[in-house]
Amino acid sequence: MRAFLLFLSRREGLKNFVLRFGIFRRASRRFVAGETLDDAVAAVRDCNRQGMRASLDLLGENTRSQEDAERATGEVITMLDRIGQEKIDCNVSVKLTQLGLDLGKDYCYGNLMRIVRHAHGLGNFVRVDMEDSRYTQATLDLVVQALKECDNVGTVIQAYLYRSENDVRMLLEHGCRIRLCKGAYLEPESVAFKRKRDTDANYVKLMKILLDSGIYHAIATHDEALVSATREYARTKKIAHDRFEFQMLYGIRRDLQQRLAADGARVRIYIPYGTHWYPYFMRRLAERPANVLFILRNIFKG
Ligand code: FDA
Repeated sequence: MRAFLLFLSRREGLKNFVLRFGIFRRASRRFVAGETLDDAVAAVRDCNRQGMRASLDLLGENTRSQEDAERATGEVITMLDRIGQEKIDCNVSVKLTQLGLDLGKDYCYGNLMRIVRHAHGLGNFVRVDMEDSRYTQATLDLVVQALKECDNVGTVIQAYLYRSENDVRMLLEHGCRIRLCKGAYLEPESVAFKRKRDTDANYVKLMKILLDSGIYHAIATHDEALVSATREYARTKKIAHDRFEFQMLYGIRRDLQQRLAADGARVRIYIPYGTHWYPYFMRRLAERPANVLFILRNIFKG
């Protein structure tokens, strides 16, 4: 089921079909704050009120024209300005294929740096999301290049990839802030662990390397066992709870998000918004096939 949903997440034909139906748009609202920046800012405010930070993500990936890549770049810059004006506790997450990575690495770097420099001027931070393994090396290359110019940029490491331990060690040499996640894409066995227990074991191993590094990183998961393992490790190593943060996705395990924040942990919520929600929505369904039943029930109810 997971593989099938991830396969569908890349099918243009199905995307065009799904986008025509309001019912799917309404269902996507479980994971997406809305279609406009105003919707997103309202969700950030709500989060901040509950003692949690946020990272805003303008949905979109695999941009096919320079015009679209530059429009997305401009919208992220507008988002950064709005965050500054509203004085909300929030940074931004971007995907390099949205900024034109498929159109050329140098071209994409130009757009990324417009965002990173703008964020730097505002005292804000840019997280470069990690996409599927065809983009891993290019993403790491561009982030390391960006770090030589500005220190307010970081990226993501996926525990399911065999290469991740080496990538973590390389990024730490550059002082890079890392968000550790399990990984959300359909990957072949030649590059990624297939069994949950192997991914989880690698996650714990990488989490320890990150916490030991003294750099401020993010532990991104809704898996309670991994959250507990992280808190336990931090306690044993006397790492204060403000030296790292937990990150979770908008709409997933709100109970755990609130419990951790109430318990004094730093929590940041990843809040996506915009009209290009289809692939993001499909990845969320794939993570938990029970979500498909939830969506179908709502469709037949409504
Ligand atoms: P796991 O999938 O084992 O889930 C643990 C528990 O969480 C489940 O039992 C369920 O209760 C709940 N849960 C998880 N997903 C759910 C869902 N969709 N619906 C309902 N409940 C769910 N990936 C990537 O490849 N590149 C990236 O840049 C990022 N960025 C990112 C940012 C942040 C802040 C988070 C939290 C995650 C990502 N991810 C990501 C996604 C990540 O790789 C992974 O797919 C999801 O976090 C799901 O894995 P868990 O660690 O939550 O564990």
